Amino acid sequence: MIRQRKGVVAVGGLLALGTLIGLIGLIGLLGCDRGIEHPGRKPFEYSCGICHRIGNILAKRKDPEGWRRTVTAMRQRGARLNDEEAESVIRYLATIRPLK
Ligand code: HEC
Repeated sequence: MIRQRKGVVAVGGLLALGTLIGLIGLIGLLGCDRGIEHPGRKPFEYSCGICHRIGNILAKRKDPEGWRRTVTAMRQRGARLNDEEAESVIRYLATIRPLK
């Protein structure tokens, strides 16, 4: 009986440890600088993600005018953003991917 309980505790402990490690891994993955909470994030991911891998866009850095030119060019190519969304996407990208 006591032995059994120990077993349960051991398995439970292992599971908890596994979950913890999994969570840390997940946070690590999410935390690899793929974005922040920002009103521009959703429109960016939805509309730019149609043609690009988000990671490829985020590999670039530009000043705000550079991002403005890119977003304007992409709207001409078919990115579906209204003016307000385009502004917030520009701000978002200029915030998380400024020139170094
Ligand atoms: C309809 C498809 C499409 C959508 C939607 C789209 N793009 Fe593009 N994008 C392209 C194509 C095609 C190219 C390559 C040709 C070029 O460089 O103009 C490109 C190139 C780029 C480049 C590399 C050239 C540069 O200016 O640095 C970036 C960065 C980029 N897109 C960002 C974005 C962002 C940000 C959005 C969302 C606002 C977006 N794209 C939406 C098709 C698209």
